[in-house]
Amino acid sequence: MKNFLSIEECSRAGIEELVESSISLKEARHIRDFSSRPLLDQCWGIIFSKASTRTRISFEVGIRELGGSALFLSPRDLQLGRGEPIKDTARVMGRMLHGAIIRNDSQVEVEQFAELSDIPTINALTDQEHPCQIIADLLTVRESLGGWEGKKVVFLGDVDCNVAHSWVWAAKHLGFELVLSGPSEICSPVNYLEKLDCSNVSFVEDPFVAVADANVLYTDVWVSMGMEDEANKREGAFTDYQINEKIISLADSNAMVMHCLPAYRDKEISESAFEAHAETIFSQAENRLHAQKAIMKDLAT
Ligand code: CP
Ligand code: NVA
Repeated sequence: MKNFLSIEECSRAGIEELVESSISLKEARHIRDFSSRPLLDQCWGIIFSKASTRTRISFEVGIRELGGSALFLSPRDLQLGRGEPIKDTARVMGRMLHGAIIRNDSQVEVEQFAELSDIPTINALTDQEHPCQIIADLLTVRESLGGWEGKKVVFLGDVDCNVAHSWVWAAKHLGFELVLSGPSEICSPVNYLEKLDCSNVSFVEDPFVAVADANVLYTDVWVSMGMEDEANKREGAFTDYQINEKIISLADSNAMVMHCLPAYRDKEISESAFEAHAETIFSQAENRLHAQKAIMKDLAT
């Protein structure tokens, strides 16, 4: 059974194939060619215990465009929310659904679901990784810069969050330069990087040094879902890591500015920087749909 649970588990060829397939599906959608229907007569469950705009909508639309139907399942309504274990939920759903898309705190639980349900399972964000986001991001980089080879990507802000982790694994597999820049007292990626042993990924605490000649400046929220209690401490510590005109002026003159969204204006990105790069950022959001269709097409049995 094939699953899509992390970028860590992907291969270079696997990532490249997903990006190529996303491009084909995007082109087909633009000419309204929906003849590829690998999910015909299938029903996929979308089991989200955290908020979502982009991921939920892009999966629901994507499943329909691939010929299947989607069932949105919230733990508030499932017995899961009243304490039924994930391992029982997985074995029930595996006998009825054809695939599952899960957003949850725990990577271990998503992996357990995949194993016990025996249906294709997709990680739609855990505390550990956000792999669907990264396939869409790579597609966006490929569209704007022609590819990632030889490029320098700088991730500013919470460099120990799920999105940053997935970028780290993408850099390891694909070989582009990735610089992580954030306050070490809050989000040191050192433990994560030690697992990697990868010379093209580094941590540079000074953001003004980190962004020199960058081709891509990337950020995510400073306060991820579930960390709201730390908001005050984090927002103080991250101030220097905001993407704004000053930081952008130190990067390559054609640098892309990317944000996975949702964005908090004048926190991780200034209002003016956001609006100046809105076309890239909203293409990135649209690309979630094409990337996830490619992932589901690859997994469909
Ligand atoms: N980027 C992202 O995953 O957005 P949502 O939380 O809205 O799904
Ligand atoms: N790091 C963020 C990503 C949101 C898409 C979070 O986990 O809330």
